[in-house]
Amino acid sequence: MNEDKDFEEIAKTIQRMIDREEEAIYSRVVIREYRNPSNLGFIEDPDVSSEVTGICGDTMKISLRIKNNRIIDACFWTDGCGATIASGSMLTKMIKGKNIEKAADISDRKLLDALGGLPEEHRHCATLAVATLQKAVKQYLEKKKNLGKKR
Ligand code: FES
Repeated sequence: MNEDKDFEEIAKTIQRMIDREEEAIYSRVVIREYRNPSNLGFIEDPDVSSEVTGICGDTMKISLRIKNNRIIDACFWTDGCGATIASGSMLTKMIKGKNIEKAADISDRKLLDALGGLPEEHRHCATLAVATLQKAVKQYLEKKKNLGKKR
């Protein structure tokens, strides 16, 4: 019984240390998005989905539902780090309701600003999210163009 309590206390102390370390490195926005991400998962039968593997070897997937050229739903999935989860979460929130071309205009800088910045060694995580979105948009526009040609 006492051993269980000791273990619980040790686990709580370790968690507090991890939390403090994260809070020293990341902005409040990044921590919020990472600990409680929005739009994590997959859209069933999406209008388009894309997948990109970044320079670190981690992957992001984005799926979109589009109606009248507007993104009405967006989801992401990643096997990457907390900064990537925060990036996917923030980016999918930023693009929901946006015109598809406007969404593709979101730059790494814009996403980094919305996140309150990322440490230098994690900036590529935001780049990965933006590259995955841009790939999805490109694929969607090509698909649309090809459908137009067939008519
Ligand atoms: Fe690989 Fe963040 S995406 S470290």
